Amino acid sequence: MAAFVPPNERNAQSPHLPFGDYREAPLYGKDIISVSQFSREDLDYIFGVAKEMRAMVERIGTFDLLKGKILANLFYEPSTRTSSSFFSAMERLGGSVIPINEVTYSSVAKGESLPDTIRTLECYADVIVLRHPEVGSAALAAEYARKPIINGGDGIGEHPTQALLDLFTIKEELGRVDGLTVTMLGDLKYGRTVHSLARLLSLFAVQLNYISPDILRMPADLVKKLEAKGVSQKEYSTLETVLAETDVLYVTRVQKERFENLEEYEKVKGAYVITPETLKPCKDEMIVMHPLPRVGEISLEIDTDPRAAYFRQMEYGLYVRMALLAMVLGKA
Ligand code: ASP
Ligand code: CP
Repeated sequence: MAAFVPPNERNAQSPHLPFGDYREAPLYGKDIISVSQFSREDLDYIFGVAKEMRAMVERIGTFDLLKGKILANLFYEPSTRTSSSFFSAMERLGGSVIPINEVTYSSVAKGESLPDTIRTLECYADVIVLRHPEVGSAALAAEYARKPIINGGDGIGEHPTQALLDLFTIKEELGRVDGLTVTMLGDLKYGRTVHSLARLLSLFAVQLNYISPDILRMPADLVKKLEAKGVSQKEYSTLETVLAETDVLYVTRVQKERFENLEEYEKVKGAYVITPETLKPCKDEMIVMHPLPRVGEISLEIDTDPRAAYFRQMEYGLYVRMALLAMVLGKA
């Protein structure tokens, strides 16, 4: 007679699920610093695992794939979604979390350097998620760390796990990525989510439209890099011109915290607001996305429109982050 296996473990051991020891798989033991490290094959793998994670969460909620593993969540900047979805992802996989969401209560407040803080946390954790105000901070942390570092946002640089969940959202909602027109709106200068998403979309045959106030345009060096990769990009100052052709309208918040001069912020903060009127020329089969938080760029009346995907987008983030943790730790 087979030994009794508790239901949770039975599911985790189920032969048709891609769970177990997968140390040859992409990402095992790796850092996640920039979307530039991913190929289309990697994305297929990550999204395949994310779908399995969704099925498992729907069926049993929590299971023991990462039992005994510990995540350190090190956040030098405010966060609701990234910190709590990584926290939830680790807990749903049976692991546990050291949350450092308010560095003023840690030894960072005594002047401890980032490398020393990382050296400390890796004594206690198997993987570290880092959000930090400086561009390049995650790469710096990874230089010193023996354990995997996941970039949860480095200043105005990148937010790679957000771009992965954004792309997963697009695939799940619209069924494809090649051939789509993606319109990015708002603060394209300081918004790290659009920097990562535009880079990631360069792996696909997409049309990218950029719409922003003049002082918040997509950085010229990034536009050039994507151009060199053959990405079709166009800049506009008004939204109306491109609404009818847009498949994904990716709205962003003007990043107040990055402005040196708050008067400049005041001038551009309300530049674009999406209302039901705005969406009138749009297709029925398109989606409105936003990495959130929103601070007035999307009117509340849009929330009940089936094309408003930004709340679903947050949920996709849980499954993608579960997949990333399992893969980095060699279990998927
Ligand atoms: N939450 C995203 C980020 O941290 C977007 C934003 O804050 O506007 O980059
Ligand atoms: N989208 C995002 O990164 O949200 P938080 O800043 O709340 O983590």
